[in-house]
Amino acid sequence: MIELSTEGLVHVYREGSVRAVDEVDLHIKAGERVALIGQNGSGKSTLVRHFNGLLRPTDGRVVVEGADAAGLAVAQLARRVGLVFQDPDRQIFAGSVRAEVEFGPRNLGMTVADRRAAVDDALSAVGLAGDTDTNPYDLGYSRRKLLALASVLAMRTPVLVLDEPTTGQDLRGVELVQRVIEEAHSAGRTVLAISHDMRFVAETFDRVIVMRTGRVVLDGTPADVFAERSWPALRSTFLEPPLAASVGARLGLGSTPTDGAFVSALRRVDGPAPDA
Ligand SMILES: Nc1ncnc2c1ncn2[C@@H]1O[C@H](COP(=O)(O)OP(=O)(O)OP(=O)(O)O)[C@@H](O)[C@H]1O
Ligand SMILES: [Mg+2]
Repeated sequence: MIELSTEGLVHVYREGSVRAVDEVDLHIKAGERVALIGQNGSGKSTLVRHFNGLLRPTDGRVVVEGADAAGLAVAQLARRVGLVFQDPDRQIFAGSVRAEVEFGPRNLGMTVADRRAAVDDALSAVGLAGDTDTNPYDLGYSRRKLLALASVLAMRTPVLVLDEPTTGQDLRGVELVQRVIEEAHSAGRTVLAISHDMRFVAETFDRVIVMRTGRVVLDGTPADVFAERSWPALRSTFLEPPLAASVGARLGLGSTPTDGAFVSALRRVDGPAPDA
């Protein structure tokens, strides 16, 4: 089943300005894990803001679970698509961590018991279970990003859209975000995430879509998109393939080599390690 589509989607912010999104046709199936990448200003955030009605098309159509988004109110879209903003400070408004995460479930009309479970699960998933009474602005940036993620997770929408979820996260934070995506995927939810972190993208998603100046220039598996033949298109939107892909290609291991493949290839070059 197709969960999210755009058909000839165009977005122009002001009359006469550039087409931030320029004739994009996309079909994302239920349960897919999709990464959206591309240089700054290539239209990624503009594109995804159409899926929850924050922006409406200048031209073309957006379809969510088979329904034209033009006929759905923002409140109806909010039940289907949870969008975590790129900038947490444009999303967070409540005076405590718990109040922030409770807002969405309360608005959706969840029962008290469901709401409590949804809020507790979301806070534990992002490692904020011990901070329920904290004022969000006393958290550092990386934890405010995780709070914004929790507040959307708690709405238990079938679709999760994450705009740069790993920005500002250390390795532990990145692993936490990966675990959240893995759990959402196991529960059958669709995940679309924007990222500039090519290693995170290669490790976490089944499909990678590359944008340049409002258009889609590549769309395939991480192995396809990071393969050597795609490097010119990646470079044209100021992206580098992940280091593992470029080293892997040089060692003849392909664009998504495993750690084990690297170890064997290095043994072939160096001979066995002294203590092996
Ligand atoms: N609110 C706005 N008003 C006018 N123009 C905008 C607005 N938001 C974005 N733009 C312009 O639209 C284009 C696409 O921007 P967008 O934020 O969608 O790109 P992006 O791919 O998400 O970039 P980044 O990686 O920097 O987040 C850019 O030219 C940008 O300057
Ligand atoms: Mg953006």
